[in-house]
Amino acid sequence: MQPETWQAVDDYLTRTIVGEDDVLRGVPAASVAAGLPDIQVTPAQGKLLNVLARSIHAQRILEIGALGGYSTIWLARALQADGRLTSLEINPRFAELAAGHCAAAGVAERVEFIVAPALESLPRLAAERRGPFDLTFIDADKENCPAYFDWAVRLSRPGAMIIVDNVVRGGRVAEADSADPAVRGMRTMLAAIASDPRVSATAVQTVGGKGYDGFLLAITS
Ligand code: DHB
Ligand code: MG
Repeated sequence: MQPETWQAVDDYLTRTIVGEDDVLRGVPAASVAAGLPDIQVTPAQGKLLNVLARSIHAQRILEIGALGGYSTIWLARALQADGRLTSLEINPRFAELAAGHCAAAGVAERVEFIVAPALESLPRLAAERRGPFDLTFIDADKENCPAYFDWAVRLSRPGAMIIVDNVVRGGRVAEADSADPAVRGMRTMLAAIASDPRVSATAVQTVGGKGYDGFLLAITS
């Protein structure tokens, strides 16, 4: 099987069962046109986030890394009207674009963007007793994922879900001696999770329109 097949199947699934509306369909191209990297989750992955959030009736969602707001919209649409999503984004230009996309998607009132490095926002959220969160989606710089994951656990309710994007990195996560900071970040995070009594986790390899990668799915105790 080849990447072209993965893309063709993703296209087929997107057309058939994912159910993107016109707003979501336009976000990736609008983000690229604004100069953002074309690295948002695929439609099928976005829908997975939406289904997972709905399955646990998530009312408080934390996102680390908004980019153009594509995953933000999928997650925010899983919320009831009184649910809230807090999205941490370091880049003010990205946050502004994401906020515009959330407004077009009709979820602006449910979404708050905090524009700062997440390692500054996360302790502030804890100090302000924000949360606890029912679901956290981590999709930001991979080097800081060990710290992001630790903060996500601290900010979670018992039985909360934590999802981390990009844990497989084309298979390179299995390379113990990798010098790639992203791979090292994921390996450090995975090793910490393995001996962390606060969580139980798995990771699943995926192929699709973004190639070969995978996500981590954890539940807090
Ligand atoms: C990259 C980041 C992502 O979150 C992703 O899903 C794919 C690629 C990157 O930084 O290359
Ligand atoms: Mg990602």
